[in-house]
Amino acid sequence: MKKYILVIDQGTTGTRAGIFGEDGKPVPGGWAYREHTQIYPRPGWVEHNPAEIWEKTLLCIKDAVQRSKISPREIVAIGVTNQRETVVVWDPRTGNPLYNAIVWQDRRTATITDKLKENYSELIHKKTGLVPDPYFSGSKIQWLLENVDGLREKVKRGEAVFGTIDTWIIWNLTRGSREVLTPEKGGAHVTDYSNASRTMLFNIEKLSWDQELLELMGKIPEESLPLPRPSSDKEVYGYTGPALNGIFNGASIPVTGDAGDQQAALFGQAGFEEGEVKCTYGTGNFILLNTGLRVFYSRRGLLSTVFYSLEPGKAYYALEGSIFITGAAIQWIRDGLKIIEVSPEINPLAESADDTGGLYFVPAFTGLGAPYWDPYARGLIIGITRGTTRKHIARATLESIAYLTRDVVDTMKTDVGRDIKVLKADGGASQSDFLLQFQADILGVEVVRPLVRETTSLGAAYLAGLAVGVWGSLEELKRLWVEEKRFIPQMDPTKREKLYAGWKAAVKRALGWAKE
Ligand code: G3P
Repeated sequence: MKKYILVIDQGTTGTRAGIFGEDGKPVPGGWAYREHTQIYPRPGWVEHNPAEIWEKTLLCIKDAVQRSKISPREIVAIGVTNQRETVVVWDPRTGNPLYNAIVWQDRRTATITDKLKENYSELIHKKTGLVPDPYFSGSKIQWLLENVDGLREKVKRGEAVFGTIDTWIIWNLTRGSREVLTPEKGGAHVTDYSNASRTMLFNIEKLSWDQELLELMGKIPEESLPLPRPSSDKEVYGYTGPALNGIFNGASIPVTGDAGDQQAALFGQAGFEEGEVKCTYGTGNFILLNTGLRVFYSRRGLLSTVFYSLEPGKAYYALEGSIFITGAAIQWIRDGLKIIEVSPEINPLAESADDTGGLYFVPAFTGLGAPYWDPYARGLIIGITRGTTRKHIARATLESIAYLTRDVVDTMKTDVGRDIKVLKADGGASQSDFLLQFQADILGVEVVRPLVRETTSLGAAYLAGLAVGVWGSLEELKRLWVEEKRFIPQMDPTKREKLYAGWKAAVKRALGWAKE
């Protein structure tokens, strides 16, 4: 019998479900994707409806399984990967959400984190590897406890529990099944160390929730949080429950893999050696450098984060640079400025300009993440002349993605004191040859793109499959990684540094813009 792994990738804009074979290749046809509603109740607030996310996840699983034409009995494990930091609160007795999910991009807790920054930056950095910012889950949970009527009492009575999106999906997948790690919670109320490491409540060296931080962020009771587990769990988080019976012909499938989407992408890129780096070009860009069994504490605004774990109590770590807006800038010139109709149009348009004519676009729509961490920075386009046309704006947009990535890669190099030889690229915008060539040019570093571009889903499949013996070792997974294209730097170094100096000057003008 052949063995397959089902993967769910619950992302910021939509959910993907799909099936991988033992060869690490996606099963043709066995894929489905659905977008969900973005809710913006006030400026700077971003919410999702958790019930809608779960409904669409179920539909995606159903479509993927049906379209793949494989027998559900051949699916030996399920892996989950997800948009990180986003918080869900629900009643474990009914499964009903008690508030919309507060999304990682949401800035409503800036005043909470401003205070944490003043007094507890060092402590938070030492314990969690993070810098206080509304980006992470902790202040969002505090906000819910302080603003949702009666929530604190419900939490005390066990009528409300919290989780990141992975927890919400796994709880729903396993709901009503008796074979779960936390049967008293109605489903598996678990998360993995990589997701937990994004909450600002988790001690990344001890691999447990931190009482002092729970106290500091609104006195969060530990029982309301999920059980932290390895990313690949031989003990199994839980088996699928009645909600999936119809799809799987009554079979109960073990859920054994869970990782934050950016960590899963590095795993899917087989970035298992210390020093390996990947960059995912999505709504934002997320660059992760493998630091092995050691937590490397950045002095320059990068985050230390759990990369993955294959056994309880032991984890591998990564240094991360998170850039909030990159692909979203392409969407903005499409939907906001309307200078292109569909996103891929940006490539030929950008290439039709020899250069930007001195134009720079800093897409700091929601502030700037690493290495600047300025929630008050705002976007700007500078250097406009009478000769500026939409092709220059298109080119400046793609170039900005490469410059923002260089900001992070340069910081990583200085931080760890060693060179970065190759950058492994993935994610939607990595399809653009123009972008990856400019990236290689502006970094002076080779950029490679793998044959399987769904690295996030692939990473979750690997994690789930390792737990049930579909793959035996990381060495085996490395052999499945195949290069599709390599981009070699061609730009003259003097030109490179001149262009980059212009970028730095533009960023300086964007910083602090919205601070009153
Ligand atoms: O930290 C946020 C990140 O996990 C979001 O990823 O791909 O869903 O936008 P994505």
